[in-house]
Amino acid sequence: MGIFRIVYFSENHLDYDADGVEAQLETILKTSQSNNARDGVTGALIFDDLWFIQVLEGDRETVWKTFDRIRSDERHHSVTIVDARDVEAREYGEWSMGLITRNADTAAILEEFGPNGKMNVRSMKVEGFLAAFRRSATVGSAFAA
Ligand SMILES: Cc1cc2nc3c(=O)[nH]c(=O)nc-3n(C[C@H](O)[C@H](O)[C@H](O)COP(=O)(O)O)c2cc1C
Repeated sequence: MGIFRIVYFSENHLDYDADGVEAQLETILKTSQSNNARDGVTGALIFDDLWFIQVLEGDRETVWKTFDRIRSDERHHSVTIVDARDVEAREYGEWSMGLITRNADTAAILEEFGPNGKMNVRSMKVEGFLAAFRRSATVGSAFAA
């Protein structure tokens, strides 16, 4: 069975008056990991303060269903698809959803992808997004499962 992959970015809209951002990320991650494990979806999520960037892999119909839930989530907005296509194989088969955040290990990598150390998602091409995932994933995910 072929693998379908979506890459999108969105603007962070977490509630900064509520619980800590870390707790909110953990909540998103827990739901993602249990749903994705159930649905055979794998992938990675970069949280870089201003932006979320996510790659989702799996069966085409299931990936779109997952994406439809994600798109209407009020914890982010302006969800923008960068790429949606069939691919040869999964790259994140080990992660029902791995979260990559800015830390001592990933900061230098993420900073390569935009001016002032902020990822410039509006002008990045698909290859740039994929490179950001591949390179930052090699130093590990904050909460992989
Ligand atoms: C940035 C971001 C990424 C998300 N990624 C996923 C995901 O990979 N899989 C998933 O099921 N839900 C994900 N969610 C959560 C969904 O938007 C939605 O809340 C959830 O799927 C609802 O699941 P439930 O019906 O089991 O509560 C994400 C939400 C955000 C804000």
